[in-house]
Amino acid sequence: MKRENELKLKLAPSILSADFSRLGDEVKRIENAGADYVHIDVMDGHFVPNITFGPPVVKAIRKTTDMIFDVHLMIKKPEQYLEAFVDAGADIITVHSEACTHLHRIVHQIKELGVKVGVSLNPATPLEVLDYVLADLDMVLLMTVNPGFGGQKYIKAVEKKIRLLKQAIHDSGYATEIEVDGGIDTNNIGDVTKAGANVIVSGSAFFAAEDSRGFIDKMRENAYI
Ligand code: DX5
Ligand code: ZN
Repeated sequence: MKRENELKLKLAPSILSADFSRLGDEVKRIENAGADYVHIDVMDGHFVPNITFGPPVVKAIRKTTDMIFDVHLMIKKPEQYLEAFVDAGADIITVHSEACTHLHRIVHQIKELGVKVGVSLNPATPLEVLDYVLADLDMVLLMTVNPGFGGQKYIKAVEKKIRLLKQAIHDSGYATEIEVDGGIDTNNIGDVTKAGANVIVSGSAFFAAEDSRGFIDKMRENAYI
């Protein structure tokens, strides 16, 4: 396997496709499969058309594992909920640029709470919105579907954006990680990692696999890092 990306591959199954009636067991399934992060998709019914869960659910599953909680906030006015998610056990908080009027302020609020900070861009949002915050970020999440639902089709056009972002990060000398989210499985993990992503979300593909560890192993095998 060719190793071009200096950052470590991190696999982040999303509990959006889990069986919510046994969420604690599903988180254990992610841990036992050998994944790196638990990706937690928070939706408010306003920024995206779907509603999922809030801080109490994050707090409940926090008791079941020490894994890193990668909290993806698909909500309007995220600044009102940052502290609650940190108190509930978030380790990384990612907000959408499209949902933040004062993105720079919110990025710094997250940093002050002592957790890692990410900014996410929808497929149609250009990289330029990051120009004046990139230096402050631990991670950029490039959506490879329009957010709101699991099980959607991967948008291949985003690969160009991954490549451009990787180049910009490289040129600036930052160690910013690039996460991708939406429609990713063992068939296209090679493409997104080759383009420069190193944190890989998978929801429906992970939970559809009968052999979760086999799925994670195959993802690592097919990745370009
Ligand atoms: C989409 C969510 C994703 C989603 C990924 O709005 O942010 O995390 O759960 O699920 P799949 O892998 O099924 O596209
Ligand atoms: Zn997500």
